[in-house]
Amino acid sequence: MKPPIVKSLAAMASLGIALGATGAQASPEQDRQDFIKYYTTKYPNIKIEDYVYGTLAFDTDSKARAQYDAVMQSPPYQAVLEKGRKMWETPLKNGKTYADCLPNGGKNIAGNYPYFDDRAGRVVTLADAINACRVASGEAAYKLGDAATMGTLAAYMRSLSDGMLMNIKVDGPRALAAYEDGKKTFFSRAGQLNFSCASCHVQNAGVKLRAELISPAVGQAVHWPVFHGGDHPVELQARYASCFKNMRHVSAPIGSEKLNNLEYFHSYLSNGLPMKASVFRK
Ligand code: HEC
Repeated sequence: MKPPIVKSLAAMASLGIALGATGAQASPEQDRQDFIKYYTTKYPNIKIEDYVYGTLAFDTDSKARAQYDAVMQSPPYQAVLEKGRKMWETPLKNGKTYADCLPNGGKNIAGNYPYFDDRAGRVVTLADAINACRVASGEAAYKLGDAATMGTLAAYMRSLSDGMLMNIKVDGPRALAAYEDGKKTFFSRAGQLNFSCASCHVQNAGVKLRAELISPAVGQAVHWPVFHGGDHPVELQARYASCFKNMRHVSAPIGSEKLNNLEYFHSYLSNGLPMKASVFRK
């Protein structure tokens, strides 16, 4: 018997059309609505607001949610957040702080990232904005995806946007081209297994693959970094890289145009959902 994933992949052709992966270009808002419609038709009892909890929204074992709630009450990564706060508050070489450098003092802004910078002609992530601050202040840029520096700072910094609703904008033809490029990456099958992101996080969302329950793409972008193994922060693009590995596929580098465009598309799908930085993952 074929494993369920292979069977459901066979049903992909029709789904590609439903989600605008092929044929005429849909607008980003139409895409988002199509994703939501797909999930809510399949799982009418699960509220979209709960998708921010990832697999926990689909877990019928209430112990998993209870464990999450208990850990979130006194997170084992409190010391990392504290270190991130110190990094955030420590003046940079020119005497300025990140708060001086970022819009709105760095508060309630994470949901505006990534955005398309028309002047630069590319997608700018929050990590890019933090690094731009560092460089303008005479510091070296942090290595993107590095847990000890960018991951730790982002864990604290993003918490200043908790509760803000994701608010990604795609305005103008060049922004739309970047969004479409990210969407193409999301739907492209690659690697030895010939999977796409959609094979797992659309068709198999809410399904157990091997021992793991798979989360839906909607809601995935709002809660970064996540903490694995107690106190190790993992940023969103680092998670993309491990999923490319799951697909037996080499990932483009963190911070590359390809992953930035993917993050742009992927974040748009979570528009309207509340941000919540630094959450626990098993
Ligand atoms: C072979 C199946 C598979 C494929 C293909 C796959 N993933 Fe995943 N992904 C998983 C599993 C399993 C997890 C861990 C459980 C979960 O949270 O869904 C995960 C987790 C994630 C998470 C973290 C969710 C969270 O809340 O912690 C993100 C984001 C993600 N994947 C994005 C992607 C993207 C983008 C792609 C395409 C580049 C992709 N995945 C391809 C299986 C897959």
